[in-house]
Amino acid sequence: MQLIDGKTLAAKIRSQVKEEVERLNDESEIVPGLAVILVGDDPASHAYVKMKAKACKEVGFYSIVHEMPDTISQEEIVATIEMMNANPRIDGILVQLPLPPHIDTERILEVIDPAKDVDGFHPYNVGRLVTKLPGFVPCTPLGVMKMFEEYGIQLQGKDVCVVGASNIVGKPMAALLLNADATVTVTHIYTRDLAAHTSTADIIIVGVGVPGLIKAEMVKEGAVVIDIGINRLEDGRLVGDVDFDAVAPKCSYITPVPGGVGPMTIAMLLSNTLQAAKARAAR
Ligand code: GUN
Repeated sequence: MQLIDGKTLAAKIRSQVKEEVERLNDESEIVPGLAVILVGDDPASHAYVKMKAKACKEVGFYSIVHEMPDTISQEEIVATIEMMNANPRIDGILVQLPLPPHIDTERILEVIDPAKDVDGFHPYNVGRLVTKLPGFVPCTPLGVMKMFEEYGIQLQGKDVCVVGASNIVGKPMAALLLNADATVTVTHIYTRDLAAHTSTADIIIVGVGVPGLIKAEMVKEGAVVIDIGINRLEDGRLVGDVDFDAVAPKCSYITPVPGGVGPMTIAMLLSNTLQAAKARAAR
């Protein structure tokens, strides 16, 4: 069994981004800029946004966080995004999800200029991903693909089971895998027999937020297991969706939580924002 060390890989990517920011600065005086919109007071969202802002600072990006109360109107969020769309110093716009229930999330995401959509959530970029055209790819699934690449894990012809079908993780993950010639099964809460799908898979990718969902008997000997879940237990421990201690001995590769996929998400956000800034430099 080999651990897939997301923390180390993410640090390597962050230092590559930092070097490229310095080069971009020298060549074109462009400083990549990221605007984050944070609505309400969800503690997890605040923690993620804080980590994103810190990571931006470390690589030399310009970044701003627009914090808004959860009583904010749809129109006020739209107006802020439109302002960021028009701001030449901003290359990337990220709306931290989830948004409060009175806000129409899909409508908000559609207001973001697709050229600044570093989260890859705009339907334009979703369509480009599905048709295998270049565009922005959601950070978490992109980070998982980088891990496969780094560890030489081949995808062509492999049976991959994706557990969870969200717009943020499961669906874009499935599209990337399909583009890499894997045979992809996507399971979700209405799947009748989850174990029947996971137990034959060469690779299992799970991100649903249910601690201990993937148990040893659901995993084939020698499988690769990627855990995207992040759950805080009552005793304060941070765990994924995989029963790590029982599953790990059966795996060829497995990601830990923490230190697996989590750090990759932010590294990919930096990479996507750099890509947007480079496109500005080329214009
Ligand atoms: N909420 C949970 N994951 C994400 C993410 O990757 N991007 C944004 N914007 N919100 C999230």
